Amino acid sequence: MNKLLVALFAVFVIIQFIPANLPVIVKKNRDDLMATVHVPDNIAQMLKTSCYDCHSNETSYPWYSYVAPVSFLVSHDTREGRRKLNFSIWNNLSKVKKAKYLDNITEEVSEGEMPMVIYTYLHSGSKLSEKDREEIAAWADNYAESLFDD
Ligand code: HEC
Repeated sequence: MNKLLVALFAVFVIIQFIPANLPVIVKKNRDDLMATVHVPDNIAQMLKTSCYDCHSNETSYPWYSYVAPVSFLVSHDTREGRRKLNFSIWNNLSKVKKAKYLDNITEEVSEGEMPMVIYTYLHSGSKLSEKDREEIAAWADNYAESLFDD
């Protein structure tokens, strides 16, 4: 038993030397959704609290995201999240792309797929109620429609 614990501890120490390559944090993004589009306060608040850590360049990493193996997971989810949807580059997207993303947001949020469950366990206040989900979906649908009326 003791030997097993020692071995586990050794593994824990050794994996700390494997770089997690957490995606870099960029605080100022002039093409960010919030910087270029008027987003109602309540929606902006929810997106910032429940989505921005993975879907923008403004990620904030809690202390444990620097500790392996959690760091590997955080690194992966942040990278994948940004790749699939990055609010920090919003203004650079075509209308068609924006509409597609907004449609995806409505879908993910309405189905309760986002924010990721593991995230809501660790970040109090990031969990969305049924009402929150409806509000985000309604905002995304309205915004998507407004993109095409000139
Ligand atoms: C802990 C990180 C994390 C958080 C927080 C998070 N996401 Fe994601 N999101 C991901 C990852 C990783 C993927 C890609 C894998 C997948 O689709 O499950 C993704 C995918 C998506 C996609 C794209 C789906 C597709 O198929 O293209 C949308 C849209 C999305 N998330 C919206 C949101 C919204 C809206 C929020 C906040 C309410 C949110 N996410 C919160 C990590 C996160």
